[in-house]
Amino acid sequence: MLQTSHAVAADNVVDAEFVKAVIHGLAQPQKTLPCRYFYDARGSDIFELITELPEYYLTRSEAALLEENASAIMGQLTPDQVIVELGAGSSRKMDTLLRLAPNGVTFVPIDVSRHALTEARTRLAAKFPGLVVRPVVDDFSTLDAFPADLRHRKKLGFFLGSTIGNLDPKHASDMLRSWRRTLGGNAELVIGVDLLKDETTLVRAYNDAAGITAQFNLNILARINREITPAFHLPSFEHRAVFNADKSRIEMHLVSKVSQVVRICGQTFSFTAGESIHTENSYKHSSSAFRTIVEEAGWRIGRMWTDGLFSLYHLA
Ligand code: AVJ
Repeated sequence: MLQTSHAVAADNVVDAEFVKAVIHGLAQPQKTLPCRYFYDARGSDIFELITELPEYYLTRSEAALLEENASAIMGQLTPDQVIVELGAGSSRKMDTLLRLAPNGVTFVPIDVSRHALTEARTRLAAKFPGLVVRPVVDDFSTLDAFPADLRHRKKLGFFLGSTIGNLDPKHASDMLRSWRRTLGGNAELVIGVDLLKDETTLVRAYNDAAGITAQFNLNILARINREITPAFHLPSFEHRAVFNADKSRIEMHLVSKVSQVVRICGQTFSFTAGESIHTENSYKHSSSAFRTIVEEAGWRIGRMWTDGLFSLYHLA
């Protein structure tokens, strides 16, 4: 049985939270939509394509760092310990580590998508018969559905893919602090973090030549059209990725090419030509900036590995 947090809607059900978030976001002076809504089935497929783009180095860099350092990360693990993956999705990134897990170890992949977890459990059961898989349907930012019977066991957590980059430094720190409470004071945590680097490399990674990231960004409007009401004329919006140096983040926007009015559930939202909807922040952290976030949250950095583009932290 999958455990479910009551706060999470089932997959593919019209979602009142989504409607509320859309209307709230578009009513702001700087229009915005929450980036978590990128990932419906279509958006998740497009994201998979992004991870294979020549410009999008993040996934490849992280996979290589995990592979090279797998025994350093997994070496101390004993069968009574629990491996936790926060925001697991397909859990494929974990394969290179799980093959080093001692027999009988419990693996808890946590994700909001029940569908992704069910597939992951089937795949992992076939590939790693010695692994006890206990998927949890929950939002990784709250983690309130963590299995009570595993509370007292030592945890090794993984938060991969630079997902932490979606949070501003204060929220990143708050979330890491709350995980210390859920995972326990003796827990360890491995986090993938994209490094601050030259603007050209960063902007290319979010504005690829094949236009896949543009499709990914526009899919959030297509999703509103599919799930709520056919409100947006997609050719009237274009993808833009900019580096905000003051905030050390890539921002994705959807820019209205014309002056237009959009109607959703009885509300009207007017756009001037050139006005944007801010859809995502992807923070880029120097090692000193990330150290501050970690230490404010009450963790300390055990090890850090990097290839010069991406970084992998082992926190204790
Ligand atoms: C999944 C949040 C890590 O910020 O790089 C990829 C999402 N957006 N291309 C990132 C994303 C545009 C990605 N994260």
